[in-house]
Amino acid sequence: MKNSLEFRNGRLRILQVSDPQDLKYVRRSMVRMLNKAYDDLKPDLVVFTGDNILGNHLLDARFGTRKVAEGKEATYDSMYLALSHILQPVNRRRIPFAMIYGNHDDMNCVTKDEQADIYRQYPMSMKMNRDDKSVDCDTYTIELRAENGEVKYCLYMLDCAWQDKTGEKLCHTEVKPETVSWLKKETEKYKNIPSMLFIHIPLPEQYNFTEVCDAKSEGAIKGDDGSYIRLDKSVCEGVMNEPPSVLEESNGLFDVIREAGIQAVVTGHDHGNCFIGKYEGVDFIQTGAASFRCYGNKRTRGVRIIDIFEDGRYETEFRTFFDICGKTPLTAVEFFFDADEYEVIKYASLGSVALAAISGLAAAGIRKYIKKKR
Ligand SMILES: [Fe+2]
Repeated sequence: MKNSLEFRNGRLRILQVSDPQDLKYVRRSMVRMLNKAYDDLKPDLVVFTGDNILGNHLLDARFGTRKVAEGKEATYDSMYLALSHILQPVNRRRIPFAMIYGNHDDMNCVTKDEQADIYRQYPMSMKMNRDDKSVDCDTYTIELRAENGEVKYCLYMLDCAWQDKTGEKLCHTEVKPETVSWLKKETEKYKNIPSMLFIHIPLPEQYNFTEVCDAKSEGAIKGDDGSYIRLDKSVCEGVMNEPPSVLEESNGLFDVIREAGIQAVVTGHDHGNCFIGKYEGVDFIQTGAASFRCYGNKRTRGVRIIDIFEDGRYETEFRTFFDICGKTPLTAVEFFFDADEYEVIKYASLGSVALAAISGLAAAGIRKYIKKKR
């Protein structure tokens, strides 16, 4: 397993897949979208930025949320299958992949280390942390090297979520102080080398890209305190469909990022938010979810391309499901039948059809009965 990759003709293409968040009964549209993205966009590295599985529903029935199994063995088996849907396609294409966890990955009885071992079973997995016990297994660095072996760019991967395994069901979103100290030391080691940081949960500084507005303003969304906010388009580009759900505790993370001169912070978690803005010299890249099983929408369901160049620059672009799979009547139907947000309409329509059929049969039965009586 590697912890470094080489630029090809001065460029290295990353495909960020955030929040694929699915189960062993995977939604096929997501798998199709990802397969097509790998074939068409030809990434040199795929980065799964957390909530890679829906870790708190691994034992659910195929439909609904009724639990149909229990215990660690069943959880592990289901996790293994859920992960295979996202890892096999990259591994089969011999594309290196890296990962960090999100809040949903750890919401079960399997430990983060045990789960990391599933990723490690795939030959194309990048080398995660196993030796440094001060931080989690998904806190590590990937070096990007020139042909002569010189490190030209660093990707810092940071853990930020854990669940209390004592049965309290508490999920905490935090960058632990030890993780922040690790980053400080790591950036000192790679001083003056351009870098980017991947972390699942957005930083509280994302609120610098919002502005207060009234309820009827274009793009207005209701904040947690009942007031309305929207994306501040004077400092940010993209879409915001929900108030940023940020780290509960960041323990001075942004200060370290700024002081170390990290170029960009790449996040996921907020499925409906997809934008880029700059704050105090740092780019904030927020990416929508790939998952069809969980909430999302047409503008934010997709993947992000990040091209990093050997001279330290980078370019990024988000591609939606329709950009990747094409906008045709067939893809529109496919999207409708697989996307979570249409679930209510879908079941209501099916319910109406079923009700109409039952009513029709009942009416026919009554007519037959009356005829007989006469
Ligand atoms: Fe999340």
